[in-house]
Formats: sequence, structure tokens, C-alpha cells
Amino acid sequence: MPDTQNYIRRILTSSVYDVAIESPLDPMRRLSQRIGTPVFLKREDLQPVYSFKLRGAYNKVAQLSAEERARGVICASAGNHAQGVALATQKLGIRSVIVMPRTTPGIKVAAVRNLGGEVVLFGDAFDDARRHAMELEREQGLVFVHPYDDPDVIAGQGTVAVELLRQHPGPLEAVFVPIGGGGLASGIALYIKFLRPNVKVIGVEPDDAASMKAAIAAGERVVLPHVGLFADGVAVAQAGVETFRICRERLDGIITVSGDEICAAIKDIFDDTRAIAEPAGALALAGLKRYRTLPEAGNGPLIAINSGANLNFDRLQHVAERAQVGERSEALIAVTIPERPGSYRQFIRLLGDRQITEFNYRYAAGADAHIFVGVQLRDGEREREQILALLKERDYPAIDLSDNELAKLHVRHMVGGRAASVGNELVYRFEFPERPGALLRFLEVLRSDWNISMFHYRNHGTDFGRVLAGIQVEEADRPAFAGFLEELGYPWWEETDNPAYRLFLDGS
Ligand SMILES: Cc1ncc(COP(=O)(O)O)c(C=O)c1O
Repeated sequence: MPDTQNYIRRILTSSVYDVAIESPLDPMRRLSQRIGTPVFLKREDLQPVYSFKLRGAYNKVAQLSAEERARGVICASAGNHAQGVALATQKLGIRSVIVMPRTTPGIKVAAVRNLGGEVVLFGDAFDDARRHAMELEREQGLVFVHPYDDPDVIAGQGTVAVELLRQHPGPLEAVFVPIGGGGLASGIALYIKFLRPNVKVIGVEPDDAASMKAAIAAGERVVLPHVGLFADGVAVAQAGVETFRICRERLDGIITVSGDEICAAIKDIFDDTRAIAEPAGALALAGLKRYRTLPEAGNGPLIAINSGANLNFDRLQHVAERAQVGERSEALIAVTIPERPGSYRQFIRLLGDRQITEFNYRYAAGADAHIFVGVQLRDGEREREQILALLKERDYPAIDLSDNELAKLHVRHMVGGRAASVGNELVYRFEFPERPGALLRFLEVLRSDWNISMFHYRNHGTDFGRVLAGIQVEEADRPAFAGFLEELGYPWWEETDNPAYRLFLDGS
């Protein structure tokens, strides 16, 4: 258990720059303006393997004796640690065995192999892989490289703090650090609290993977029964022994954030730097933003560590969708309106010129229609409450779904199903140029005696709004309807005979 002086010496003499770069500390101009205090981002996403993990891994491997190097090393990891160890051993010409669960995405397996690591795929869960790695360590006499609970790994991660204080010598209120097992937070807290004890060092964890916070609250390392996997880089069920000891003593606090807040922070990073962060990479910034809303926050400069950028591209769709909710810039509401011609229009008019992000509805027998509506908010929480109050005042029963997981993940895409007894339903796709008020204008040109029996609209932030609508038109009225389509002036496609509609939505 090295003491503080020993750790500071290890940090200052660590040799990470054989593989790591001194990453930039970038100002976040837009976010600083928005939250009213200077914010900087330490760009560890720009490291050669797109995360800080190579610092600790290299420092550990570089300290090994000639005899240990000859034996080779082993680790278990499905993520950034694996790539850090593979790069470090490649650089030093040492054999490395990396055990990954069989479920690891092919792209990560390939990245480790490309760096010369010997990949062993074992088990379905990370724990199986870890146990297997410990067996191989014994059988083959390999040296185990822990992802965080090791003084040399902690010291390597501490080099981030050395750069940071050099790059930002002026006033500094707080530094925000993501916590998985706590290696990065330990290294940073040791160095900053030694040199500048008045600078706060605050750890950040996802609220469904807060093992360090739970350990500090309990006074001992607890095992979380469930761990959220969204921020996979920090999905750790139990804090390390050494990292718990250090974090408990040195951190000024731990903030937890939701998945939606992490998504909003990914967007903030993109808006300011045009870089994409992985969820664990944006975690610290989400904590920084949360800190600004607390009474203890001052007005001094703040720094967040962007710890990584290893993200599967196809997760971005989810991130973009959830970022709006995390930023409190979208309200999702279930509203009940009377099932009669014209009631749609009245309802949309009530929302004024607010941008509608989503509007889903499917006819159901009965006097009422249930609508799933998304509304963009310019004024956050307060505006959401205003809208709900307005709906109440006008006797529209409404349920706020903005924090309802089931609604956000599933129901918003599934509103519909077969409706019984919808007669004379014609189905059309429409496109219209997207701008505030465009949806209302589209509805204005529909004749009020044609009932809308189905409606699906999502604003994707693209140039064109896309609507799927079912409209009930009597045989005798079909010529008039053809005239309406002529006059509409927007592109349209009839879909009444489309098999997707026939199979999944048609109830006639
Ligand atoms: C991108 C990223 N951020 C943060 C962490 C957390 O680091 P630590 O386990 O040292 O707390 C990790 C760990 O792998 C990571 O990959």
C-alpha cells in the first residue's frame, strides 16, 4: 500500500509517453456560455486506442522485471483495458493473452488481434472470462494486469492530472472524473489533492452502476446486485480494494447521473468539438452539468475528463433520441382527445408554435382517442409544467411520460396495432418541408368531415417531415378527396394496398 509521496513519485516518473500523447485540454465555448462558467474537456478520447487506459496498462507492463516480461502477461477485458494492454505489450515486445467473453463484438476482438494480442474467447459473461484468465495465469505462469486495482496502473492514470494542472495553472473549482473500478479517479485525486488541495475532485458514476458511491456510503466494498450496461466502460459491480481506500479518502464527492443525462453530454461534446464520445467518456461531463445545478456550486472554471470514444456506430441513433429527453428539451405526453373530426387541429393549435417532435395515434373504438405526443421545449422543466397545466385547464386528460422508460424505449414506436371497425380507411404517406407550424398547416388543409383514423409523424431533424395517415373517406367523397390531393402541393404516396399496412395495421 504505497503512501502519498510514493504515489506522487510513481506518477511523476511513469513512462506513459512511449505510447500515450499529452492530450489537449479544450475549452467548451458553447456549453460554457450556456451554463455560465468556463468548462474545459480533457481529450483522452484522442489517445492512440481512443481511451486513457493505455496509460495505466503501459506503466504497469513497463515496470515488470526481465523475468516477468519473459513470462508474458494476461488480462480479462471486453473493452478499453484489453486494447491498452495489447498496445503496451506490442510496444515492449512482450507476449499478451487477453481473455474476452464470447459475446464481445467482433470489432473489439479484431482491434486487440491487430495489436498483436492473443485473444481467448471464453464464457458468456465477463466474470466467466475473468475466472478463466486467473486459471491461465496459474497454469502458464503469466503476469496478471489488473484494469484498476494496482498501484502502477493507478500511477499511470495519474499522469492525466499532471498534464491537466500544467495546462490549466489558473483558478480551478473542480475536476470531474468517471469511475468504473476507480483507477483513473484514484490517480487523479492523489495528484491534485497533493498539489492543489483546494481544487475539488469529484467522481461520477451512472446511477445504475454506482459501486464506489455505494461502497463509500456503506464504509466497505459492496457488490451491486445489478449493474447497468449502457456505459459499458464503467459497468463495475464492486470497487477495487486500493481504489476504494484512495477514493474514500481523497474524493470530494460522487455524483450519479442517468443514461439520458449521459446522452445529453455526448451531444454537448459533439456540439462543441465535433467529436463523438462513448457513454463512459461523456459521463464526467454529465456529472459536471449536474454539479452546476447544486447549491454548493461556485462560479469557477470546471474540467471534465472525456475518457474514451470506443462506441459502436449503431448506438448513435439511441443516443440522439435520448439526448433530447436528458437535456429536458423534449416532453413526451399521452393525451386523450375526443374522437371526432377537427379535434386534432384544435389540440395542435393549443400547443402554439412549439416544434412537435412526435405525434402518434391509432383509432380505437370508443369516444376518445389516445395520442402520444412529443414537444420540443425551449424552457426546460418549467415549460413542460406549463404545457401540462394548460392541458389540464382545457380538460385534456394528460399523462407525462417524459420519465417513463417503457414509453421512451418501446411504446413510442409501437403506437398502433390493428383497429377493429375502421370503415373506408385510405392510407397515405406525405412529405412536407419541416419548419415550426408545418404540421398544423398540413392539418388545416384536410377537410374537417374526413376523420383521421391513424397518424404517425416523427421529426428526425431532417429537411422533410414524414407523415403516415389513415383517413376515412366515403365512396361518394372519393372524387373530392382526389381534388384535395391535387391541391395539397406536397408529395404523397397512396399506401392502402401496401402489404405492411395490410398485415400490421388494417382492421377492416
Ligand atoms: C472510457 C472509460 N472511461 C472510464 C473508465 C473507468 O476507469 P476506472 O475503471 O479506472 O475507474 C473506463 C474503464 O475501462 C473506460 O474505458
